Amino acid sequence: MLTEVRFVIRGLASATLFLCAAITPAQTVDQSQSNTQRDVDVPFVVSAPSVVRTMLEMAKVQKQDFVIDLGSGDGRIVFLAAQKYGARGLGVEIDPKLVETAVEDTQKLKLGGLVNFRVQSLFETDLSPATVITMYLLPDVNLQLRDKLLQLKPGTRVVSHDWDMGDWQADEMRVIQNPEKSLGLEKTSKVFLWVVPARLAGRWCGQIHKENEAITVNIDIEQRYQELSGSLSITTTGAGSNKTVRKIPIRTNLVGNRFVISHGNQDITADADDAGLTLFADAPRPTHIAGIGANPLHGLPFLFFNAVLLPEPVRLKRSSDCMNVKAATVR
Ligand SMILES: C[S@@+](CC[C@H](N)C(=O)[O-])C[C@H]1O[C@@H](n2cnc3c(N)ncnc32)[C@H](O)[C@@H]1O
Repeated sequence: MLTEVRFVIRGLASATLFLCAAITPAQTVDQSQSNTQRDVDVPFVVSAPSVVRTMLEMAKVQKQDFVIDLGSGDGRIVFLAAQKYGARGLGVEIDPKLVETAVEDTQKLKLGGLVNFRVQSLFETDLSPATVITMYLLPDVNLQLRDKLLQLKPGTRVVSHDWDMGDWQADEMRVIQNPEKSLGLEKTSKVFLWVVPARLAGRWCGQIHKENEAITVNIDIEQRYQELSGSLSITTTGAGSNKTVRKIPIRTNLVGNRFVISHGNQDITADADDAGLTLFADAPRPTHIAGIGANPLHGLPFLFFNAVLLPEPVRLKRSSDCMNVKAATVR
C-alpha cells in the first residue's frame, strides 16, 4: 500500500500503470516485509526473456564483462549474462525474498563462481566495477541515477528496459514485440542503450615535428552528454615561417572514449585515455569525379579533397594555453 501511495504521489501515469499491473496474484509483493517496503522504489515485474536477450545483445556483453543489474528481481538478467556469455554479474535487490530465490537458483544453475546477489538499495551500490549496467526501473528512478551513471568509466554500457534517461539521448533504441507483456495495451517493449561518454569539454593542444615542419593541433570542444561540437585547427609552420592554417568544424557523437570527425572524404579519429587525446588522420578515401562519363567504376580519375595529412598520430593534452605545448611522441 505504501508503495502504491508513493507512485500516485509521483503523478506518473506510466508509473501507476506499471504498479497496477505489477501487483498480480502471481507477483504479490509481500506486505510483511514492511521494513524493506519503505525502500522499494519500483515494483517487481519481470523482463520477458526476449527483452533480456535484446538488452544483453545491445550491450554487446562478453566474457570479460561485469554486469550489475539494478533491482535484479529473480536474477534473470544476471543469469543469462553468465550462461550465454560467461560474464560475471551482481544483482542488487531490495527485497530479501527475491534475493533468497536468486541465491538458490544460482546453486541450481551452478553459477556460483560467476554471479552474486545482494540485498541492497540500488542507490547505495558502488557501480564502479561494472562494465555493463542493466535496469528495468521507472523514469524518475532512471533520472535519479543519471549523474552517477555519467561518472562511470567511459565506455561502460547502460541498458534500460522501457524507460529513457530524459535529455541524455540514447545511443541506440530498439522496439521489440513483447506479447507476454503484462503492462499497458501495447505489446511492445523498448530497450535503450547508452555508452558512458568520456568528459572531453575544453581546449586540447598538441604538436609534432616532421622534417622542417612543425604541425600544431588545437581542438576546442563543447560537450553535452555524448554530443560534441567545436573546432579542430591544424597549423603547419614550415621553413622561413611559411604557415598554413586549416580549421575544421566538429559536430559528432562521442562513443565512450572515441570520436570521429568526418571531413570530406577523410575520417579523423580521436581516442581519449588517461594521458590525453590521440588524433589519427586516416588516408583519404578515393572519390571518383562525379557526373562525367558513364560508369564511375570504370577508370575515371580520382579526386582527393583537401585532405588533412598528419604524418603520424598527434598526442594532445588539455591546456588553456596551446602556445606552450611541446611536441609529444605517441608510442
Ligand atoms: C521491474 S523489477 C525488474 C526485475 C529484473 N531486473 C527484470 O528486469 O526482470 C524492479 C526490481 O527492483 C527492485 N527494487 C525496487 N526498489 C529498489 C531499490 N531501491 N534498490 C534495489 N532494488 C529495488 C524491486 O524489488 C524489483 O525486483
